[in-house]
Amino acid sequence: MRKVAVIGVGMTKFGLLFERDLSSMAVEAGSLAINDAGIEKKDVEVLYGGTMSGGLFSNQEHTGSLLADRMGLNVPSVRVEAACASGGLALRQGYIDIASGMHDIAVVGGVEKMTDTLNTTKVLATAADVEREAVFGATFPGLYAMMAKLHMHRYGTTEVQMADVSVKNHANAVHNKSAHFQKEISVDDVMRSQKIADPLKILDASPISDGAAALVLASEEKARELCDTPVWIAGSGHATDTISLHDREDITTLKATVAAAKQAYGQAHLTSKDIDVAEVHDCFTIAELMAIEDLGFVKKGASGKFTSEGNTKVGGKIPINPSGGLKAKGHPIGASGVAQAIEAVLQLRGDAGKRNTGAHTALTHNVGGSGGTAIVHIFKR
Ligand SMILES: CC(C)(COP(=O)(O)OP(=O)(O)OC[C@H]1O[C@@H](n2cnc3c(N)ncnc32)[C@H](O)[C@@H]1OP(=O)(O)O)[C@@H](O)C(=O)NCCC(=O)NCCS
Repeated sequence: MRKVAVIGVGMTKFGLLFERDLSSMAVEAGSLAINDAGIEKKDVEVLYGGTMSGGLFSNQEHTGSLLADRMGLNVPSVRVEAACASGGLALRQGYIDIASGMHDIAVVGGVEKMTDTLNTTKVLATAADVEREAVFGATFPGLYAMMAKLHMHRYGTTEVQMADVSVKNHANAVHNKSAHFQKEISVDDVMRSQKIADPLKILDASPISDGAAALVLASEEKARELCDTPVWIAGSGHATDTISLHDREDITTLKATVAAAKQAYGQAHLTSKDIDVAEVHDCFTIAELMAIEDLGFVKKGASGKFTSEGNTKVGGKIPINPSGGLKAKGHPIGASGVAQAIEAVLQLRGDAGKRNTGAHTALTHNVGGSGGTAIVHIFKR
């Protein structure tokens, strides 16, 4: 396996971008990443694009070809789908491609246009087990609410501790001009917000967002030739688990996260103690709490207290989601995993402005659905 670096990043603003379409957002993010890498379009040899569903959201499939066409690139182009982990998986597929020696320069991206339909919750539920969960009316807020209930019952986790995740991530997003929300909120705001699936409230949830994000990946030889500040992919892990919750032994942990993290830590020869900053999959506040346990930053059941003590803030023991996370930066499904990697790169380059943590090693964690897929990457300066 060859070493692989990220040499360019670019993203659109995330939010309710009613006037934009899927391809224009993808082209904007891809072009920004190519410019940031200081290369030309003709240097790009392959594209990997993560999208949950162009078809169900916007009536447009065959997005591999579409995005290559709109980018003006006549190169192999692969659409990658793993629900909310589509972007993370696109990154991993691009990484494997370059590491294998097949190509030297890839653009990997993610895009989702979620506001073209009024059926967003129903479309999202197609990423659950349709025959065994969604058919009974289960939605993602409902599935994560069940995880939260058991976590609260077993470990004493409280609604206020979950609210602290949201307050922190909103505070971080104030310093991120690409974020869907740039607005501080309080614990009281969260506690008083509309219940969507008990115990989760609207301010415990990531929003419906549009947006795109892209990276340029390069082989070691090309990265050293083209870039003064390459960020190296030190580890990459990918695991799956049962798609439906009821088939799992324990719904307070995502086995796929634990397995993907083990692969990534092993490949990087690192442990959780070596990670300086992480972007984790906080589609709901309970998901961030479970993630920091499953990734080994805190022992099982201790994440609520750890968060409320301020350990996951920028400047804390292990800053989590300095970008604002899915909660406040936004969650355009296919783009989220790639945007997490962008934050990792900005942090390692020292280009994250007021969000800078001075990190040398960063981790990203992207989940598909309620844990049917998990992708973990580790990045180093
Ligand atoms: C929580 C949710 C149901 C709210 O949707 P909604 O009830 O249609 O909300 P609306 O779009 O009508 O917005 C109402 C207000 O709340 C705000 N809002 C909506 N979702 C929000 C969120 N997640 N966080 C913060 N504010 C939010 C809107 O900005 C709007 O504010 P305004 O009145 O000041 O303009 C929706 O955001 C959701 O489904 N989120 C989860 C997405 C998901 O499941 N993703 C996959 C995860 S696996």
